[in-house]
Amino acid sequence: MSNMDISCMKGDILATSADLIVVGMYRNESLENDFVSRLDDLLAGRLKKDAKAADFTGRAGQSMLFPASDQVPASYILVVGLGELSESSKQVARAACGLAVQTAQKLNARTMALELIGEDHEAFRAQDNAQAMSEALLLASYSFDTYKKKQKRIELKSVVLIAEDGRDARKAQKGIETAQTIADGVTVARDLVNTPAQDMKPIRLAQAAEQIAKMSSGSVKVRVFNREQCEKKKMGSYLAVAQGSDAEPRFIHLSYKPQGRSKKTIALVGKGVTFDSGGLSLKPGKGMETMKCDMAGAAAVLGTFATLARLKPSVEVHGIVAATENMPSGKAIRPGDVVRAMNGKSIEILNTDAEGRLTMADSLGYACKLSPDYVVDLATLTGAAVVALGEEISAVMSNDAVLANQIVSAGSESGETIWEMPLYAPYRKLMDSEVADIRNISITRYGGSLTAGLFLQDFIEEGQKWAHMDIAGPAFAERPIGTYLGKGGTGFGVRTLTTWIQSI
Ligand code: BES
Ligand code: MG
Ligand code: ZN
Repeated sequence: MSNMDISCMKGDILATSADLIVVGMYRNESLENDFVSRLDDLLAGRLKKDAKAADFTGRAGQSMLFPASDQVPASYILVVGLGELSESSKQVARAACGLAVQTAQKLNARTMALELIGEDHEAFRAQDNAQAMSEALLLASYSFDTYKKKQKRIELKSVVLIAEDGRDARKAQKGIETAQTIADGVTVARDLVNTPAQDMKPIRLAQAAEQIAKMSSGSVKVRVFNREQCEKKKMGSYLAVAQGSDAEPRFIHLSYKPQGRSKKTIALVGKGVTFDSGGLSLKPGKGMETMKCDMAGAAAVLGTFATLARLKPSVEVHGIVAATENMPSGKAIRPGDVVRAMNGKSIEILNTDAEGRLTMADSLGYACKLSPDYVVDLATLTGAAVVALGEEISAVMSNDAVLANQIVSAGSESGETIWEMPLYAPYRKLMDSEVADIRNISITRYGGSLTAGLFLQDFIEEGQKWAHMDIAGPAFAERPIGTYLGKGGTGFGVRTLTTWIQSI
């Protein structure tokens, strides 16, 4: 998918030929050690002089760029600060790689050589660090140009990671391969989110799922249901959202089966509202600007599925998306209407902008009928989650503490930040209805993410282990996140889910 080639070999970084060479320095690393002295010599004393002048101490985020001298087979040398030796080396390595790509782009570099970061750590794992670095390199190089007049851009074509140790280099090679697969999955998700809603109707989302199945050499299958088929399945809650739009809804069910015995069965459910206008409870203009991202949960599920045929986990995986658009029209649902979900519960709709939970009520109901070991859903569900945790952190709520911990730690392993919030049962009464089993909004706006999570829980079968991720914040970046994720769709969730699935 990406045409950037990454490899790892044993070598001497300062003797590697590349347009840009990148070396790391820890905070307050002695300027007198062998490597730094050698580099300083090669740069005719400029390293130590500039470090002093610019107060470069190797803090994370700091960097210095030097045009190389004749004695180095490169055009430029970038020195990046790696922070304290004790900091998580994967996170530091990702950040450094993002900075390296940004610099390479400014310099129009086609080739880059980077030190395999962390090799001198005691807890160093070559495969993991190479994977983290490669993911960051690939994600940082992403751009979405489909709708731009074609212009020739100089692209980073090849990156080589240089290891000091031959065994590390071989292990790193494996990490690079995993990273390429996962980054391709993230790219699938980002492209789906970035595509304007005019071209990303439910039918298109279903086509994307079919395409993923087609590319999987038989390991991924897909079933797609139209409006009539969903009516037969009594998905009244999901269809209530779909009825206002001229775009036909599509209910998508992907499934992956491993070759051998599967250890566990999981269901991943993604919110797939291809555009959220709010419906008759229309959003104000500003709030609608980014609402093509309201299918980011579905995109994360599809992106994850795009990796499965290559990662080959021994877990059976189902992917479920109730795709629809949320639009106002003469056919649209009205505040006060009562609808019935697949599990038989009636819902009084008081705000048509709380549509995500209505679509999820039926996609979660469908997922529970498969009786998987775990159901995990991802949804751009509430603005309140963005207020609570900001634009970089996803919330997770779960009825199973072990599952919640697994999701949080898969996130932190993979570079996505997830924070647990409570399914606080006493708030459920805020959604008691006079005429139906539940209202689709709470009587107060406080704790909006928690009440949304509790609403979803009403559609989870008794005893079913389930986790809900509210990705409304990190799904779509209105400003760059860190050094390696630019504006727009982030593909949030793909790295966490693939990491979690591989750990089962
Ligand atoms: N899709 C929105 C939530 C959202 C907001 C996602 C900002 C990404 C960024 C969701 O459908 C919605 O409109 N939620 C309402 C719920 C309210 C009416 C109870 C909200 O958060 O305002
Ligand atoms: Mg809404
Ligand atoms: Zn929405």
